[in-house]
Amino acid sequence: MITAFRKTAETFAAGAKALAQQYFVSPEVFAEEQDRIFSNQWVLVGHQSQLAEAGDYFVAEVASESLIIVRDKGGEVHGFYNVCRHRGTRLREDRNGHLSAIQCPYHAWTYGLDGRLIGAPHMDQVPGFAKADYSLHAANLALWEGFIFVNLEDASTQRGGYMSLEKWFAPLAGKFSHWNLPKLRAAKRIEYDVKANWKLMCENYSECYHCPGVHPMLSKVSPYDSAENDLTEGPFLGGFMKITKGAGLTMSGKACALPVGKIENLQEVFYYSIFPNMLLSLHPEYVMVHQLWPQSPERTLILCDWFFHPDAFNRSDFKPKDAIEFWDMTNRQDWHVCELSQQGIASRAYEPGPYSARESIPAAWDEYYLRQIS
Ligand code: FES
Ligand SMILES: [Fe+2]
Repeated sequence: MITAFRKTAETFAAGAKALAQQYFVSPEVFAEEQDRIFSNQWVLVGHQSQLAEAGDYFVAEVASESLIIVRDKGGEVHGFYNVCRHRGTRLREDRNGHLSAIQCPYHAWTYGLDGRLIGAPHMDQVPGFAKADYSLHAANLALWEGFIFVNLEDASTQRGGYMSLEKWFAPLAGKFSHWNLPKLRAAKRIEYDVKANWKLMCENYSECYHCPGVHPMLSKVSPYDSAENDLTEGPFLGGFMKITKGAGLTMSGKACALPVGKIENLQEVFYYSIFPNMLLSLHPEYVMVHQLWPQSPERTLILCDWFFHPDAFNRSDFKPKDAIEFWDMTNRQDWHVCELSQQGIASRAYEPGPYSARESIPAAWDEYYLRQIS
C-alpha cells in the first residue's frame, strides 16, 4: 500500500474555526451524541488480552447501558446486556473477573458463557416456559486488530448508520500489521476523570501546536512541528511525528522494551484518532490506547492502556514504567489544558476562534463530527 504523508499545514483549509459553545456545554447536544454516535456506531471497549481465558469478563458502560464482555468456552467473545431475562436485575456489579457461568443474584437464573439460559429454578412448573426463549440479549460485537468493539444499533431497526466492523475498518486494512496489535498485552491501565467535554481531548490529541508550552519534555524528544499525516479526513485521522535520533518517548529518553514488531523506522511515532472514542498511539516499543467515555457535557472518563509485545515482559530490558510515567505526565498536562478550555468555553465571552495551520487535523475531526450530529 502506498500512502502519501503530507505536512500538517498542507491540508489546512483556511477559515476553519473551533466549535460553537453549545457543543461543549449543552445537555441536548450531549444526548444527541449519546444517541447518534455512542449507541449507534462502533465504539472501543477493550482488547482481547483482557480476556485471556474462557470465563474472563469485564463490564463496559456504553451510552448508559451496561454490557458484560465475556469469552466463552469455544474462545468466542460476546457482549451481553447486563440485564436478567427474569425480572431485569443487573447480573454483574463488579468491573471484571472470572466466571464459569453468569448467575443472577436475585433468583439464581443461570446463563452459560454463550448467553444461553441453562438454569431457572422452578420454571419447569410454568406451562409453556422454554429456556431457549430466554437467552441474554446480545450487542453487536466484533474485533479489529485484537481490539474489542461494540455497536448497540439494533439490527432490526437499523437507522442507516450500521455497518459491519470489517467494512468500517476496510480503509485501514493491513495498515498496522507491523505493530502486532492482536498479540500485544497491557502492562498497565490508568483511569482519568477529566472535567472537560470529550471532544476537547480529541481535538487536543490531534495537534501539537500546544506542545512547546504544555509538554516541554515531549517537545525535546519529538519536534512539535514534525507531524506528517496520511489520513486527513473522515473518521480516522492522523499520521506520524519524528522521534529525535537516539531518543525515546520515555522518562529516561531510551527505548523501554523490545520493539512490538518489525518496525521500519524507530524514529517515528504514529498517532491516530479512531472516531469516536479511540486514540491509538503507536511507538516503536509500545502502543498506548486511550478510550474516551463521555459522562456529561463537562466530564469524561478516560481509560489509558499501555501495551507491549508478550515476549518483552520476561526480559531484563523491560522497563514499562519508563513509558507509563512519561505519558502519565504528558496526559495530565493535556487534561489540565482541556479543563481550562472547558472553563473558558462555558463563559458568555467565548466565541469560536480561528484554527491555526498547525490545527488542520482538529479541524478535520470537527468536520466529521458535525456530519454525524447534524
Ligand atoms: S431477576 Fe434474575 S433471576 Fe430473578
Ligand atoms: Fe498534548
